[in-house]
Amino acid sequence: MLFKQQVLLRQKLFVLGSLAIGSLLYLVARVGSLDRLQPLCPIDGRFGPRSQDEIPLRALQFKRGLLHEFRKGNATKEQIRLHNLAQQLPKAIIIGVRKGGTRALLEMLNLHPAVVKASQEIHFFDNDENYAKGIEWYRKKMPFSYPHQITIEKSPAYFITEEVPERIYKMNSSIKLLIIVREPTTRAISDYTQVLEGKERKNKTYYKFEKLAIDPNTCEVNTKYKAVRTSIYTKHLERWLKYFPIEQFHIVDGDRLITEPLPELQLVEKFLNLPPRISQYNLYFNATRGFYCLRFNIVFNKCLAGSKGRIHPEVDTSVITKLRKFFHPFNQKFYQITGRTFNWP
Ligand code: A3P
Repeated sequence: MLFKQQVLLRQKLFVLGSLAIGSLLYLVARVGSLDRLQPLCPIDGRFGPRSQDEIPLRALQFKRGLLHEFRKGNATKEQIRLHNLAQQLPKAIIIGVRKGGTRALLEMLNLHPAVVKASQEIHFFDNDENYAKGIEWYRKKMPFSYPHQITIEKSPAYFITEEVPERIYKMNSSIKLLIIVREPTTRAISDYTQVLEGKERKNKTYYKFEKLAIDPNTCEVNTKYKAVRTSIYTKHLERWLKYFPIEQFHIVDGDRLITEPLPELQLVEKFLNLPPRISQYNLYFNATRGFYCLRFNIVFNKCLAGSKGRIHPEVDTSVITKLRKFFHPFNQKFYQITGRTFNWP
């Protein structure tokens, strides 16, 4: 009898203890996120007079809780009405460059309480079939957000697709455009690695990078190879400049985003007229992944998927040298146009 009572008492204590620990963890997580997301002092006083482009942070503390639910498509009509939620067209787009770090940039910007990301690449402006569906179709692909938040989408194919600048201009001529670049040869190899992995997954064979990047007849760089053409950043940017002034672009250093993300993100916050909210707390280096990962609060953190940060195949050094020499004059022009210089060889 006494033994039975002791067992019952232990079970009760166990349940109570678990409940207490659970509640404590929840509270710590909640306080952690609120502490970070709630304005510490009145926004207007803290950041000076608000320009038209600036985004007030009203009610943004809900972002990691309530709004997260809405973004998953769970918003009821009542919730939408109550919180004045809407699917807003993007005010900024990460237009490229493929393999520059576009996913990392989008996910890291999404740490900002005033930013809401479109999770999928929408490919509205580069895909004729999607474009024909009209702007309302595009808007419906956007997540729900509060009126003062900005929506950002990323579709890296936009940067290199002929028709896209004009189409985006028609939607919003004052939109902000983000381009994340990496050293062009590394980017081309990363691009190749992605395609190679796709082929291997389908049990198909593929050429070596060297064979694709160098024309066997001339022994010169093969400018017909897409991975090479995409890395001629200046050629693509020049097409965009027919529609948008350079002030509407911000160039992100994708190599630095890997090794030291915070300063790059702070530059983007400034460009988007957002108050600085992303901090070192939100980014931690994960030695196993070999990359920075994201920390939303004491409980919620995440690293990018394994498809980001692939091991590149070894490439013949003479081919690398040839490619670097080839890209050099284009890089110089790119620095000149953008006003941002990189230490690319
Ligand atoms: P690699 O796979 O060549 O290393 P994109 O998202 O445009 O496809 O870019 C992918 C690249 O993002 C990866 O290229 C990786 O180096 C880079 N990257 C930058 N920051 C990262 C991060 N925190 N986690 C994983 N990959 C990151």
